[in-house]
Amino acid sequence: MPATSRVAIVGAGLMGSGIAASAALAGNEVLLSDCNPARTAGGVELAAVHVRQLVKGGLVSEAEGARASARLHGETDPKAAVAGAFWVIEAITENLAVKQAMFRTLEERVGRDVILTSNTSGLRISDIVRDVKGRGRTAATHFWFPGHLVPLVEIVMGEDTELAVAEKLREILLGWGKAPVIVRRDLPGQLANRILQAVIREATAIVDSGLASAEDVDTAVKMGMGLRFPVWGPLEHVDTVGLELCVSVQDNVLPSLYNETRPTPMFRRLLAEGSSGVQAGKGFHDWTARNHADLVARRDSFLMQALKFLRREPRTPGRK
Ligand SMILES: NC(=O)c1ccc[n+]([C@@H]2O[C@H](COP(=O)([O-])OP(=O)(O)OC[C@H]3O[C@@H](n4cnc5c(N)ncnc54)[C@H](O)[C@@H]3O)[C@@H](O)[C@H]2O)c1
Repeated sequence: MPATSRVAIVGAGLMGSGIAASAALAGNEVLLSDCNPARTAGGVELAAVHVRQLVKGGLVSEAEGARASARLHGETDPKAAVAGAFWVIEAITENLAVKQAMFRTLEERVGRDVILTSNTSGLRISDIVRDVKGRGRTAATHFWFPGHLVPLVEIVMGEDTELAVAEKLREILLGWGKAPVIVRRDLPGQLANRILQAVIREATAIVDSGLASAEDVDTAVKMGMGLRFPVWGPLEHVDTVGLELCVSVQDNVLPSLYNETRPTPMFRRLLAEGSSGVQAGKGFHDWTARNHADLVARRDSFLMQALKFLRREPRTPGRK
């Protein structure tokens, strides 16, 4: 019988390390592993850095941080890496064949009552677990980046996921202080990325059509709707303004929104000229004139301030 407090995370990259930090802070013994031993060690180190960031940000006490860091273990032996875990979270490279092979292997290595989930953001969990015999105990648990700071976790049910398993995952994640949501069908984009992609499609179309600059589009989202979203969801907004007004605004605005099913043409033009984003120095913005590291630091700092506020708010979804 697996212990109820040991979580195994396979894939010790960006997401695996963030999830590991959250799991350890919630009191679990964490086994982190990777096919690359250097990444295993690096992932444990990065998870400890995430814990320290939360201590430094005043969200976790020194003592809690020290206890969490002591619960983080790297394991290079693939069998030992999942031994005794009650839940295995796969956070390896986003490649269907590689993930399918991983789930086949995981099923051989753990008992039938162990929950198996994938952190996939873009693949269908039903496809990933296609060859698993006991698919009822599988699901996607999509932690949002950065996994140690963002509360949202989408629990996506595959075609065979048992509702009881999804509900158990929700209960566990609530105990971790996360804000889990259950997504009942296995569609591209899960739940939150469907909304984000609609925003990105319109944001890029606005720039492409010359309606506003990239700078002003980002300002409009960051300083307007984005700022109120942590306590004011779009459907709470609709109910507040009233459905009648909302329908009349939609009748007026929706016909002029960009509603193509392909990315905005500007994406292809930018890619053709080598402007693929921060790494290339240019995307929608000119990154040679901007400081990306500073932007990341300001994002994390804002997230930690927001988390402090949300933790004080009794009505925050998922608040411990
Ligand atoms: N990066 C994001 O913003 C983000 C957000 C949410 C979800 N995700 C999803 O999380 C998963 C991991 O993404 P990431 O950004 O952490 O990737 P990453 O490249 O940082 O880490 C992936 C790790 O998996 C390891 N790996 C690959 N094949 C393996 C195998 N067979 N066995 C063990 N380890 C293996 C790699 O060595 C690497 O260290 C992906 O499914 C991705 O789509 C990513």
